[in-house]
Amino acid sequence: MIRLGCKSVAENVMEKVAKETELFISEGNRAPSLAVVLVGSDPASMTYVRKKKEACEKLGFLHFQYNFDEDAAEGDVLALLDELNERDDVDGILVQLPLPEGINERKIIEHINPEKDVDGFSPINIGRLLIGEDCFVPCTPKGILEILRYFSVDTAGKKVVVIGRSNIVGKPMAALLMQKGLDATVTVCNTKTPDLRKETEDADIVIVATGHPDTIDSSYVKNDAVVIDVGVNRIADASREKGFRLTGDADYASFENTDVKITPVPGGVGLMTVSMLMMNTLEAAKRRRG
Ligand code: GUN
Repeated sequence: MIRLGCKSVAENVMEKVAKETELFISEGNRAPSLAVVLVGSDPASMTYVRKKKEACEKLGFLHFQYNFDEDAAEGDVLALLDELNERDDVDGILVQLPLPEGINERKIIEHINPEKDVDGFSPINIGRLLIGEDCFVPCTPKGILEILRYFSVDTAGKKVVVIGRSNIVGKPMAALLMQKGLDATVTVCNTKTPDLRKETEDADIVIVATGHPDTIDSSYVKNDAVVIDVGVNRIADASREKGFRLTGDADYASFENTDVKITPVPGGVGLMTVSMLMMNTLEAAKRRRG
C-alpha cells in the first residue's frame, strides 16, 4: 500500500492561510474571527473544539467560545446565534455537532447567517454548492479535495464511489466531485445498497464515510485504487492510555500487500478539517470586508 499521510497537506494549507492572513491584516483589516458554540460535553466534540481554538490562536484569529450545558434550552442557543449573526466582530460561526437530544439540529443550523456559516451546512450554502455557485464548502469534503490535489490524484473521467450519504460528508462530497472541473462519475452508496462490492470493485477512487469500522477491505477495490478513509471510530482498548484507539471505516491492515493508495486513521482526513475551517473563516472575513 501507499500511505497518503496528511500531516504535510494540512501544514501546507495552514501556511497558506497564515500568509494570506498576514497580508489581509497588513491591509488594515482586523484579524479574522471565529465563534464556536459547544452544547454538552461529548468527549470527541470537546477535542475538536479545542483543536479549532488552538488553530485560531496559531494563526492570530480572534476566537470566541460559548459552552452550554447538555440540557440547555434550544431557545437560548438560538438567542446566542441571533447575537452572533449581528455582531460585527464575528466573521464565522460554528456550532459543534452532534447536538444533544432535545435540540433540533436543522433548526440551529438554519439559524446561522449563511454569510457566517463557515461549516457550509446551511441550506443556502448547500444549495449554492449543488449549482456550482460561490459558497462555503463543508470542511471535510473540501479537505479531501485538497488531499487529492496534493497527491496528484486526478478525478476527471474517473469512477468515484462515495460510501455514506451524510449531510456533512457524503452528499457535499458527491456534489463537488460531479462539478465541472472535477468531472468525476460519481456513485453514492448507502446501507441499502444490495451489493457494495459490485459498486466499488471497478472504482478508481473510493471515499468511505459510514462511521462503521471495516466497511470495506482490500477485496472491495482494484489493486491500484485510491481509498480515502473518513471514519474516526473509537474502539475500546485497555492497553491504551486513553482507553481507546482510533480506527477508520476501512480495514487498513488488509491493504498491506496491495498497490492501493490509502489515507491512514489517525493521520489522514481528520487532520484536514481544522485547516479547511481556518481557510473558510479567512474567506468569511474577506467577504465581509467586501
Ligand atoms: N461534527 C463532526 N464534524 C463536524 C464539522 O465539520 N463541523 C461541526 N460543526 N461539527 C462537526
